[in-house]
Amino acid sequence: MIIKPKVRGFICVTAHPEGCAAHVQQWIDYVKSQPGIQGGPKKVLVLGSSTGYGLASRITAAFGSGAATLGVFFERPSDEGRPATPGWYNTIGFTRAARAAGLYAKNIMGDAFTADIKQQVIAAIKADLGQVDLVVYSLAAPRRTHPKTGAVHKSCLKPIGAPYTNKTVDTDKGIVSEVTIDPASQEEIDDTVAVMGGEDWELWMEALAGAGVLAPGAQSVAYSYIGPEVTWAVYKNGTIGMAKNDLERAARAIDAKLRTTGGRAFISVNKALVTQASSAIPVVPLYISILYKIMKEAGTHEGCIEQMHRLFATQMYNGHSPQFDEIGRARVDDLEMRPEIQAAVAAIWPKVTTDNLAELTDIAGYREEFLKLFGFGLAGIDYDAPTEPHLPME
Ligand code: NAI
Repeated sequence: MIIKPKVRGFICVTAHPEGCAAHVQQWIDYVKSQPGIQGGPKKVLVLGSSTGYGLASRITAAFGSGAATLGVFFERPSDEGRPATPGWYNTIGFTRAARAAGLYAKNIMGDAFTADIKQQVIAAIKADLGQVDLVVYSLAAPRRTHPKTGAVHKSCLKPIGAPYTNKTVDTDKGIVSEVTIDPASQEEIDDTVAVMGGEDWELWMEALAGAGVLAPGAQSVAYSYIGPEVTWAVYKNGTIGMAKNDLERAARAIDAKLRTTGGRAFISVNKALVTQASSAIPVVPLYISILYKIMKEAGTHEGCIEQMHRLFATQMYNGHSPQFDEIGRARVDDLEMRPEIQAAVAAIWPKVTTDNLAELTDIAGYREEFLKLFGFGLAGIDYDAPTEPHLPME
């Protein structure tokens, strides 16, 4: 099958197996080019391991610290005439590379919100690893069926209290327009908290601790975002922000428990990056396009893998402890939030129009990154050649 990108709005409905593997290999190569992480994790569970920050965390643990990794994710395999989702191919690429390097890598595909997947993970840890010393919680999901009530909660990206109007960009068509988003109802806020808040992270940690599969001193980390004021109405102060506040609440509760064995749990606030999750948020892709331009010019641009490697190497291991902010979060968004970077973004924001988008922003870099998420645009891949889309999970 010859596989080309088919972009539909903020999603690409195709993915290239060899391209995804090459993208994963680029991340592996980055980690291998850095000094090894001393005192790093050795047995790691990554929830949401197939794309974005979770995949970058897994690669950093495996190739930076020689860790055995157990990955949990929710992806769709290929079917008749249709390639699988990129996380499927990423995971196969990662697993092959890890095993070729002599590293343990096991994958559990399914809905991480269910009790069943939690039990499968516990059984796999008991059988193969005994205990884990790091749990990365990096799920970004559109919905969650509550394991106790059976209710289906859908997350949404809306402001709270009042409608919000700002600029946004259709990254596919390159059109800058104004978007108005109506405020969320209380039910929508609660639903978003139920999906993207901390309850499921707590359920995971309770299940793992209860089964005795957390090593003494085990750590756990989940990811959040703050960003600039221009996105606050739809992010920090919107429905997703309320969910992130709940994730912070959960971090404190989990931390109190892990500390009894010398471990810790915390939130790392990461940089805004092109991922499948962030491309769905209104306004944010325009901000990212400007941010990329400014940070590339300043020489401080990082992708998911550089961010996660920096988190592990300078905040969690190598003899370091996280340098927490005033409310206890690790910050690897520090370079993004530098005043001179934010001032430069704020100066460009009001000037951007459809006509000057290419000149004032790095929309080209955004699109390139976006296509790479699906395995397109990688050097050395012949995209005109037929490729086998039906790959079994490793
Ligand atoms: P992503 O969309 O690239 O990855 C999400 C992962 O969750 C995938 O591995 C997917 O398979 C998995 N997943 C989704 N639903 C699942 C389910 N029901 N069961 C099992 N696995 C499931 O997302 P991204 O951007 O890497 O986000 C991860 C975390 O990082 C989120 O908490 C997000 O808010 C946070 N973050 C993202 C930033 C960004 O700019 N992309 C910035 C800062 C934080």
